[in-house]
Amino acid sequence: MKRLLTTPIYYVNDIAHIGHAYTTIIADVVKKYWILKGDDVFLLTGTDEHGQKIEEAAKKHGIQTIEYTNSISQKFRSVWDAFDIDYDKFIRTTYLEHILGVQKAFEIMYDKGDIYKGEYEGQYCVSCESFFTQTQVLEGVYCPDCGKETRIVKEESYFFRLSQYQEKLLEWYKNNPNCILPAHKRNEVIKFVEGNLQDLSITRTSFEWGIKVPFKLKDESHIVYVWLDALMNYANALGYGLDYNNAKQQLKHKPEQNPTLESKMEYFEHTTHIVGKDILRFHAIYWPAFLMSLGLPLPEHIFVHGWWTIDGVKMSKSLGNVINPLEIKEAYSIDILRYFLLKEVPFGQDGDFSERALINRNNGELSNDLGNLVNRLIGMSEKYFNFDLHESFTINHYQVEREKIDSLCHECLAFMDSMQPNKYLESVWEILYLANSLITQVAPWELIKRNAFEDCKAFLNLIANILAKVTLLLYPIMPHICEKIAICLGIRINHEQFHSLIIQYAYLRGFQITKIEALFPKIEEPQMKLHTQKINNHSHVNDMAKDSKTQSQEIFSSLKIENEITLADFQSIEIKIGTILEAQKLPKSNKLLKLKVDINEERPRQIIAGISEFYTPESLVGTQVFVLSNLKPAKLMGELSEGMILACKDSHGLSLLRVEKEKENGSRVS
Ligand code: ME8
Ligand code: MG
Repeated sequence: MKRLLTTPIYYVNDIAHIGHAYTTIIADVVKKYWILKGDDVFLLTGTDEHGQKIEEAAKKHGIQTIEYTNSISQKFRSVWDAFDIDYDKFIRTTYLEHILGVQKAFEIMYDKGDIYKGEYEGQYCVSCESFFTQTQVLEGVYCPDCGKETRIVKEESYFFRLSQYQEKLLEWYKNNPNCILPAHKRNEVIKFVEGNLQDLSITRTSFEWGIKVPFKLKDESHIVYVWLDALMNYANALGYGLDYNNAKQQLKHKPEQNPTLESKMEYFEHTTHIVGKDILRFHAIYWPAFLMSLGLPLPEHIFVHGWWTIDGVKMSKSLGNVINPLEIKEAYSIDILRYFLLKEVPFGQDGDFSERALINRNNGELSNDLGNLVNRLIGMSEKYFNFDLHESFTINHYQVEREKIDSLCHECLAFMDSMQPNKYLESVWEILYLANSLITQVAPWELIKRNAFEDCKAFLNLIANILAKVTLLLYPIMPHICEKIAICLGIRINHEQFHSLIIQYAYLRGFQITKIEALFPKIEEPQMKLHTQKINNHSHVNDMAKDSKTQSQEIFSSLKIENEITLADFQSIEIKIGTILEAQKLPKSNKLLKLKVDINEERPRQIIAGISEFYTPESLVGTQVFVLSNLKPAKLMGELSEGMILACKDSHGLSLLRVEKEKENGSRVS
């Protein structure tokens, strides 16, 4: 079966972090699993690049919006490449094929009467790019989703008749119990839709960075609402807009380099979307309504996952606790991260990432239960049979154990098919526990002592078969590790093998074992430096301003700032321009000069400065210098010093700081 599988397209106002990695990794896991089961899967990911907040972010950096989005989009892509994510297309909403698809969809909905022109007045959250038509129009309203302050907008707007789809949506949820998983998320959506749907404002006129409404509407100032724009990517990436041509003349920036040349819309017949709970509403309500309006097939599944925090704290650039997924790859490995993310929480629930927890999983279940089993098999097959485990297995051996293993394999499939990857892993571990305890029970070394060589070989063959099954089952989650185990066992990982060993419960007759390195070396200490800070949850108003500050660092490479201070800290320091009126050596000191400096106060300040080795008193009189003027007065060699002259020193000596142009005494440095 041809299936489309999607991640959200990520906003380019952020950099890829564990949250994005989680969604994308799950998508890759599901793709690999479906391929093993025999499906033809098209995995789509990409970046969402339009909208007011992107336009504003680019402006803050003083660069062209497209330059800005190019750079961040590329960063997302390179993380997925480094993670070996097997995506089939990386769509960008700035690509021509996408723009045409959005305009085509708008035109179809418009011609059908599902879009009308009106006026919109209400709250708008720039951060989430979402409208709140149900709230009163008030100042100081905070977005229920992200907590940032909303803006009041009043503009002419096109509307989508969402209200007319209420009943059809409810019917769809009812008739498709698996359309939204986990099930409780479906119930949430149903409740929301039952509470009355309002028509949706789908254009904006207050900014420019977006897709214009179709040319034939002659309404150039209207930009398509980002969520209609973004959601359409799922169809456009498959070539939905290929046959729509009359918008080309409006394009300002250059189109994509690798356009979709032929339609792959057949994949759209069986679509699964993977999303975080933050964007469920858009995918479970707006999107199916748009699709109904367009006459396109509705998704088969929307898999909704929970929210990740780091060491119990919300992840956010402004808190500085965002972990770059590449750092984890370097410190540990992608496979361990993949395993951790899938095992740590039931799909749909929130989770907490901590390095400790990741290490524990590596040292515990991965190293002890899986790594050791592989080692024991290698060790015993080498010692007793010179790695050759052929011609020993008969169908009559270990009947009971095999039935148990077969039923666990069956259980695994059911868990993954209902999107419960952590339960899937638990069942795989049941198989591993069984194998490990069988080794203790059967004690192959005792069999050897009794010269029961054939029995021992048959037993090790069983263990190798168990590992072969486990390898196939774990491949979607830990592809790199499983490829190594496959080399060790001399098996292939593909659909045929999966079908035979997992679905049909077959057993391989013989194995030629190959030695491999230890799979999960124990990790003693955390390998990364996590910078987490305790936060004040009410700081959302400042978040936006801080976001833009940190962003500029992240785009061009993140700098670690030592002894960081805030602007307020700096403002508490008074540095003023002053003219040196008098200068003389302090008796008994060859370092200190006594200065009288005019900083435009009722009398000159007396300042003792350690510059005598570098400047003669005469050379200083009449020059302007920088004075730290709110420093607490202190006595130096019995003389009062009422401030400090700023200077800097390197291996060549000392230099006073001076102004480039003469300034009035007392002018403040800022
Ligand atoms: O919403 N925990 O993009 P976005 C778990 N452009 N998942 C997280 C996460 C976290 N802390 N942070 C982010 C958008 N995610 C739109 C989508 S789709 C047509 C348009 C993941 O960059 C999660 O999948 O804000 C979430 O839904 C998505 O990133 C939001 O990405
Ligand atoms: Mg978001």
